[in-house]
This record gives sequence, C-alpha cells and structure tokens, in this order.
Amino acid sequence: MSGKNTKQRQFGFGVDVGGTGIKAAPVDLEKGKLAADRLRVPTPIPSTPEAVATTIRVLLDHFDWVDKFGCTLPSVVQQGIVRTAANIDQSWIGVDAHALLAEVTGRIAWVSNDADAAGVAEVRHGVARKHNGTVLVATLGTGIGSALLVGGRLVPNLELGHLELDGVDAETRAAYSARERENLSWVDWADRLTRYFRHVEDLLWPDLIVVGGGVSKEASEWLPLVRTRSPIVPAELRNNAGVVGAAVLAIENLENLGDLHAHDKHKTARKY
Ligand code: BGC
Repeated sequence: MSGKNTKQRQFGFGVDVGGTGIKAAPVDLEKGKLAADRLRVPTPIPSTPEAVATTIRVLLDHFDWVDKFGCTLPSVVQQGIVRTAANIDQSWIGVDAHALLAEVTGRIAWVSNDADAAGVAEVRHGVARKHNGTVLVATLGTGIGSALLVGGRLVPNLELGHLELDGVDAETRAAYSARERENLSWVDWADRLTRYFRHVEDLLWPDLIVVGGGVSKEASEWLPLVRTRSPIVPAELRNNAGVVGAAVLAIENLENLGDLHAHDKHKTARKY
C-alpha cells in the first residue's frame, strides 16, 4: 500500500459476516476507520450462501456502493473457495464465494477469513501498526480466530483455534463462549488462556500477541492475568476490525491483480 508514486485509493468497502450479524460500512483506507456509521443486520437463518449474498447486496445498495468490496466469512477461504464453515451454514463448503458474490451483487468481491481481516486491520491501522516482527492476532468469541502477520505480511488461514487443549479443540475450552457456557471467573478463564497461548508460543514464538473480539473491551479485567512470554495487548479497532480489514484486503489483493475489470471507469460520484 505504499510507494510515493502509486495512486492511493482513499475509500473501500467492507462486509463482516458473523454467525449472528452482518456488518457493513465504507472504509477510509488512509485513516483505517469507517467512513460512515456501519449498518448491522441479522444473519439470515439458515445462513445459506444465496441468503447471505442477497443480504450483502442489500447492504451495498443501502450505501450506494458500486465498486469492488471486501467480505469476511468465519471460514478458511482459499482464493475465494470456502473450505470450512464455523457458525454459518455448512452448504458454504466448496462454494466459490468470489463467483457467487459477483453474480448476486454485480460487484467484484475479495473474500477472506474473519480473523485474517481483523489481524490485517490491527497491523495496518491498529495497535500493531507498522510492527515489523511476528504478530499473532487472536479473536476470542464463539470460537478462537487467529491471524499471523510477519513483517506486515499475512500468512492466511491459520486455524490455531483448533489446536488441541485438554484433548479437545482449544476453542471449546478457551474461547469467550467457554467462559460464558461454563460460568468461569476471569481468573479461571485467564488460566485457560495462559495455557492456550503458552502452547501457541511454544510453536510460533510471536513478538507480540493482540487479542480481539468483543471481550477485548473488558481487557483490564482479565488480560493482566494472562501470563504469556511475549507482550499481549488488546486490539484497538475492536468491533470494526473485520469491516476495516475486509476492505483493506480487497484493495490489496484485487489491485495487485491489476484492475482487471476496469471498474474505475464506471464509478459514480461517491458520498464518502
Ligand atoms: C474458525 C475460524 C474463524 C474463527 C472465528 C473458528 O472456529 O475455524 O476460521 O476465524 O472461528 O470466527
């Protein structure tokens, strides 16, 4: 995204698809902030690819966004192909999400894993801004999402929530949903997180760990109790990280491919 002579685009658009809500907003790519209040609508039930894509079209129309956009899914996504589906309908598996969204919305989309988008947002514009080392971003919600950035470059689709802890998927023991389900105190939950992050650290040795997800709002309650080797800090962009990161990844990936579809020619006047 740098280079003095490169024309930089100022606005993008991000959509963050979660198990219960879909959030969308135009994004100021220079500031790494939403350029207008975001809109959140419930995720359709069932959350089939067609139903979600139709909701996304409605959101894009609401903002009069006609250009390319970025979108997250709680899924492993390889070059647009959805490989897993956590908290969304299983019929997403195998779908070419780029093709589906192009067909249903009439716009070009870049689809990424939700935690990857949050990680990119934190490293480009958040608490790990310009960090040149190895940054691990973990989102603690229903599951555990993970993103690894090395020198600012994303290693996509890292699925560290599924490492084994106590003989089960780590996220079933240490995600925020486990604290709620088992009524854990902050101290007990922090102990689980310590064990989880120590395990991750044994394998990856990050220079910095960033924790996101809704519970990062209350970080002062529990983060000081988590004993990692590396510094561990709360995410800065919080609930907007997915939307901002989706927009950033779309521009970084689609413009790197060249403006194949020459959409710029057809851009209409923009409100943002
Ligand atoms: C999924 C990840 C996702 C995370 C957060 C996990 O269960 O496997 O792909 O990033 O949940 O939604």
